Amino acid sequence: MTRRAFLAVAFVLSLLAQFHIHRSGISIAVSPFFDDQAVIPSLSVTAREWEYRTNHQPAATNTDPTTERGMDAGDSVSNLLEGLPDWVRTYIDWHQLQRQKFPGTKLFTDPAAPPVLLRTCYRICGGLHDRLGKLPWDLYLANQTGRVLLMNWCHPAPLEEFLLPNLLDWTLPRDLNAASVDDGVPAAMRLFHNETTCLWTEKMIPTLFDEASHEHRPRPEFWSHYLDEGIRQDNVARGDQKRLQEKKVVRHRILGGELEFQKRLEMAGETTDLIDWTPSFGKIFGVFFQPSFGVQRELDKVYRDLRLIPGQYSAVHCRVRHPKGIKKFSKGKTPVPGGPDRVGLLWEGEGREFAIETAVHALQCGQTLLHQGANEMEPIYFYSDSEDLVRYVTIELHDPMFEKNYSSILDSNKIHATARKVVQRSRIVGRHDGTANLHIDRQGGAKPTAYYGSFVDLMVAAQSRCVTYGVGNYAMFASKISGSSCRLQHQEESWGVDENKKERTKLCSLPS
Ligand SMILES: *[C@@H]1O[C@H](CO)[C@@H](O)[C@H](O)[C@H]1NC(C)=O
Ligand SMILES: *[C@@H]1O[C@H](CO)[C@@H](O)[C@H](O)[C@H]1NC(C)=O
Ligand SMILES: *[C@@H]1O[C@H](CO)[C@@H](O)[C@H](O)[C@H]1NC(C)=O
Repeated sequence: MTRRAFLAVAFVLSLLAQFHIHRSGISIAVSPFFDDQAVIPSLSVTAREWEYRTNHQPAATNTDPTTERGMDAGDSVSNLLEGLPDWVRTYIDWHQLQRQKFPGTKLFTDPAAPPVLLRTCYRICGGLHDRLGKLPWDLYLANQTGRVLLMNWCHPAPLEEFLLPNLLDWTLPRDLNAASVDDGVPAAMRLFHNETTCLWTEKMIPTLFDEASHEHRPRPEFWSHYLDEGIRQDNVARGDQKRLQEKKVVRHRILGGELEFQKRLEMAGETTDLIDWTPSFGKIFGVFFQPSFGVQRELDKVYRDLRLIPGQYSAVHCRVRHPKGIKKFSKGKTPVPGGPDRVGLLWEGEGREFAIETAVHALQCGQTLLHQGANEMEPIYFYSDSEDLVRYVTIELHDPMFEKNYSSILDSNKIHATARKVVQRSRIVGRHDGTANLHIDRQGGAKPTAYYGSFVDLMVAAQSRCVTYGVGNYAMFASKISGSSCRLQHQEESWGVDENKKERTKLCSLPS
């Protein structure tokens, strides 16, 4: 068999074996392992992902009722689109149509093709919430400017390493990535993704908003001036053929606020569904994304090994390295700029005690939400930015050898003794892959696989019944995707309190 035929067969087999669960918009497919790690030269996606992208048909067109996959896909498509605000559906339809009308590089080379808006991450652009949690804003800006929304990451790797498109194809045509192909694609359109060329791309592509506007860290004048001005000028450029050509592709990376977004929708006459915190939020996420094969493989493993069923467990998250929680306790002896978020949490002494105390309180809060099923209590998926903390809570405290080895400490130290008591009250499980949980932004530069864990944890939490979270927005993002209103906050930000988060989340208070 040729490699291509082999891949095609394997791909179909894995699709047939897929098992879809539709709960809140995203579907977790449990597929068999597939070990094809051959890397395509110059683009670090695996061969299978590459093949998939090349052959990818939007699931919307796959409604063949004779195959299981067809029915499944049909179901999930209507589930995902059902109930979305009209303007979002209209935009998605339009986007799909444009990508069909102008396939591949035609979107960039055909004079009749609409202009493009890129959501970029070329250097530092925040954690997963900041990078992916503003899809409502992305859609809004694309809608207001009549542009086809695409996404382009380089840091720490192309987004396609982690997530693939689902119903809305946001990927750049692959030929634009091939810097050596002479196919008439203008040099400025070669949006290649490697670290060197990305910085170059960043310089080549104009921004939607005035560079002085700081849309990624917006101040009041962004909302009062730059936002509307950017959209207005973009629309003016439409009337001018030369300027339109110069602005064929523009980029942005807005970190928009929810209240400002709501104001905008209200101004446009949209008052029923403001998207953030409604089921539409998770559906939109599902319209954009499905896990890449690498992430899917890890997800399957977690669900299988930990015996979790989507919708039938709770998630508890501890972000113990976030600067809003802690500034001290970095790994390594000397304090580093950026603190533990840059280098990891020191797993000894006060650093460890701080993490364990945070986890104990978080678990106690999470336990107040647990559902008592017919036979047993719902399990807790415990996850954290400290892999040491996950290991301690989900393995060590249950390990008789560990208990024996450290019995004097476990008995005499109040923190450990309390932790042991609390973890014994429910079934607490966690993901282990023996590697550090890296921050995608602050610990860039590792291989893409090193970041799979962040995506896996996000997806697992997004399929849980309840999410309990502390500082930072990463786990809150999962809760928003889940569409479940069962959520609780176990730790408050020490500064920079997010008003929306505060308003939407109950703060946990335990009887002392
Ligand atoms: C989306 O764009 C259309 C066409 O320009 C416009 O009528 C509509 O108001 C926009 N939707 C929102 C929510 O602004
Ligand atoms: C990035 O891509 C360019 C163009 O293909 C190539 O010349 C360069 O060596 C690449 N840099 C890295 C770091 O891979
Ligand atoms: C307990 O101690 C033994 C002997 O030092 C060591 O081999 C083992 O790995 C330890 N186990 C745990 C879980 O700490």
